[in-house]
Amino acid sequence: MELEELLSVGWKEVVTASKQRKHPFHTATYATLSAFGPESRTVTLRHASELEEGGWELGFNADIRSPKALQSKNDAPVTWLFYSFPHKLQVRVWGYSRVHYQNELAESIWNDMQLLSRRCYLAPLAPSFEVSEATSNIPELLRDREPIEEESVPGYQNFCVVRTRVSQIEVLKLEFEGAWRAKYTPDSATWLAP
Ligand SMILES: Cc1cc2nc3c(=O)[nH]c(=O)nc-3n(C[C@H](O)[C@H](O)[C@H](O)COP(=O)(O)O)c2cc1C
Repeated sequence: MELEELLSVGWKEVVTASKQRKHPFHTATYATLSAFGPESRTVTLRHASELEEGGWELGFNADIRSPKALQSKNDAPVTWLFYSFPHKLQVRVWGYSRVHYQNELAESIWNDMQLLSRRCYLAPLAPSFEVSEATSNIPELLRDREPIEEESVPGYQNFCVVRTRVSQIEVLKLEFEGAWRAKYTPDSATWLAP
């Protein structure tokens, strides 16, 4: 195995997963820093690309009111974690996030979004708001159907896109004879002891 080959093995699966709902990497663990320490949660990988100027970028969609969005502003340090049992592969990613809200990028992703997905952003309560009774946080009118285009429009106020500029990727590939492990930055690469 060559050093650059291991990166291709890991990154190829990340890119595939951003387009394939059933890929094990399609949902990932995304961690941020809150005032109280690290916080991790599952997010849906919507975007993975190589940047023209070198390096990589990952992205997901969120409610602008959610803790994860608040903790992803202004080049906030974050990590992503991907694991696939069938691929015997772990990819760890470090980077800096930004929130895109009511800009060209957010608008184009919102315009392409299915109406059922837009329904999440019509939640009357801010995500993670403490409530006295269990709630789906979906407007009552829309609990059993998707919104029509017109009904979905107010959701745009709550919608944002989070993008992470990747500073480091670590790939761990498990094999019967042992494991391959290496880390990469946009301008360096090195093997690591597994
Ligand atoms: C399979 C799965 C996929 C999820 N995808 C997203 C997502 O893409 N964006 C998002 O904001 N929350 C997503 N969530 C919900 C978050 O994991 C989390 O529970 C919730 O949004 C609260 O996170 P926060 O309080 O840290 O902001 C997903 C949850 C699961 C189980």
